[in-house]
Amino acid sequence: MKIAVMPGDGIGPEIVAEAVKVLQALDLRFEMEHALVGGAGYDAHGHPLPDGTLKLAKESDAILFGSVGGPKYDALERHLRPEQGLLQLRKKMELFANLRPAICYEQLTHASSLKPELVAGLDILILRELTGDIYFGQPRGRRTAPDGMFAGAEEAFDTMRYTRPEIERIGHVAFQAARKRSKRVTSVDKANVLDTFHFWREVMTEVGAQYPDVALEHMYVDNAAMQLARAPKQFDVIVTGNMFGDILSDEASVLAGSIGMLPSASLNAGNQGLYEPSHGSAPDIAGKGIANPLATILSAAMMLRYSLNQPQAADQIESAVQHVLAQGLRTADIHSEGTTKVGTAQMGDAVVAALATITKKTTKS
Ligand code: IPM
Ligand code: MG
Repeated sequence: MKIAVMPGDGIGPEIVAEAVKVLQALDLRFEMEHALVGGAGYDAHGHPLPDGTLKLAKESDAILFGSVGGPKYDALERHLRPEQGLLQLRKKMELFANLRPAICYEQLTHASSLKPELVAGLDILILRELTGDIYFGQPRGRRTAPDGMFAGAEEAFDTMRYTRPEIERIGHVAFQAARKRSKRVTSVDKANVLDTFHFWREVMTEVGAQYPDVALEHMYVDNAAMQLARAPKQFDVIVTGNMFGDILSDEASVLAGSIGMLPSASLNAGNQGLYEPSHGSAPDIAGKGIANPLATILSAAMMLRYSLNQPQAADQIESAVQHVLAQGLRTADIHSEGTTKVGTAQMGDAVVAALATITKKTTKS
């Protein structure tokens, strides 16, 4: 099992170090190789996705990814910006299916800014299409601004675009996921305004017809944004495009208590995957040792489940996370009165300690 480890920028290195610690505490053998990406790739090699990094990604079963970006790179041309490291990895590896589960752990019911009764027991899966849409439309605004910057430009544009096969394949992932859950899919679009999403709705309906046992509902994105905050438990599987999924998954993080809790998996048709927290590089708290490593640790659990075929180890990590939350340990983002505030490394150590007890129990039984 080969894992490419790409810490990236900002808090990336700190949180990835904790996930690596947790993986090393398992009774499994991995080959782990580190590579630079994002701003770190740009600083060392002049590009956010250096050739060696892409090559390593292609050769690996999975990528454990931290985060990219920071104010230091704001003046760079678009194609050199740290975010391009991530976007190009997604595109070049065809990681089209982005799974962003939003689960509200019992102990964090009160960490959400929503009323506890609205989020208690919440467990939804956002499926975001990741390699199409306005993120990768052609042509892009470069036409009006040949150097990628906009000084003196009169206009800029991005094109929104989806092909039938792109919609079909994410649709199949959604309906298959729903079969293992509550057999309900909500497809989120803007079919009332945009042709791209009128088409999306039609294709999704056709795919849905192949899954008569799964109920399909369509919802406009503005309404979905409202419903997520009003009554989030009405949802089970949400499937949507790249842009709407980006926005709705940040919104959904509030339901889980903190964006510091949200893992994600981005898969291709061969089950190679990139695993990253749903949050960004948080430059404001980078290097302070206070970031929440749980989203990255939970992403490592998803990696074991989806790309490395180690579902038992994935369960063990998830139980260990629940255990430390039950112990009352909290990083600053989820800290509240009556709980114990810990830093990034202490949180990682606590998960490792909990894991030791859990794996011992499992081996005995
Ligand atoms: C995400 C991020 C990325 C995105 C950025 C960093 C390019 O916001 O993974 O949600 O927009 O997809
Ligand atoms: Mg985002």
